[in-house]
Amino acid sequence: MRSLIDILDLTTEEIDGLIETAADIAANPAKYAEVCKGKKLATLFFEPSTRTRLSFEAAMYELGGNVLGFSEPGGSSTAKGESVSDTVRTVSCYADIIAMRHPKEGAPLVASMKASVPIINAGDGGHNHPTQTLTDLFTIMNEKGRFDNLTVGLCGDLKFGRTVHSLIGALSRYANVHFVLISPNELMLPEYMKSEVLEKKGLSYEETTDLEAVMPKLDILYMTRVQRERFFNEADYIRLKDSYILTTKKLENAKQDLTIMHPLPRVNEISVEVDDDPRACYFKQVLNGKYIRMALIMKLLGLKAEV
Ligand code: NCD
Repeated sequence: MRSLIDILDLTTEEIDGLIETAADIAANPAKYAEVCKGKKLATLFFEPSTRTRLSFEAAMYELGGNVLGFSEPGGSSTAKGESVSDTVRTVSCYADIIAMRHPKEGAPLVASMKASVPIINAGDGGHNHPTQTLTDLFTIMNEKGRFDNLTVGLCGDLKFGRTVHSLIGALSRYANVHFVLISPNELMLPEYMKSEVLEKKGLSYEETTDLEAVMPKLDILYMTRVQRERFFNEADYIRLKDSYILTTKKLENAKQDLTIMHPLPRVNEISVEVDDDPRACYFKQVLNGKYIRMALIMKLLGLKAEV
């Protein structure tokens, strides 16, 4: 039984396979309409979500399966003091696969040790978010046709932004990727990410506070929201929340084929005027997220479309 806790749980070949399946699902949805007939996905969301939870649910419905679960812990036995371990042991009796989001780093890993069905980490605190990374990789492949030879700017809250941590992990396996880490000093990439991933693997990276200065060299610009819920005090959040606001003016010196990404939700960090720029790909990411999650559910359940 396979779970997906960290993006590096998947080999690069497996990621290529998921992307291939996701592309085929997008082109031939009818072929997949009954693959998960009789199967149930449980979504256990202990933290807010729109895209991740609903895309998992839409994915399962479009595979012909069913969905159960909760979208906030207040309505579950968590509110009575039940542990994550007991909750997943319980839900394992009702569902064939579980997608779980939790504010505590490592909670989905603990869940995977107790569950008797596959667990998918749908975001654990400020740590990892592997299915967003699959979404991002599918989008990068569609837009760029490759994962190597890219200069990737990651901008905003690199400290708490779990999507950034997982994306760096995934891209660290490809040749000649240069990371440009753009953040306020207080929200720089955590030391463990630098020492355990970037430096350990000898990857090329630079850190800066100045988005406009690095804009011309970027192939990808991945914007992120300042993660309000992970701050210890509101004053720091308010001071930092508008550190970067991407506008059409700031894009004047960008490459013509820049790919602008954002996991969403956006707050202020991309001005809505940028949405009409053909380089803006964040709403394409949303749709890609459904297809790649369909491919992932099938893989973890060991199911294939009949040919
Ligand atoms: C992200 C998350 O939950 O980490 N959202 C998402 O799943 N698309 C990004 C965020 O909340 O800022």
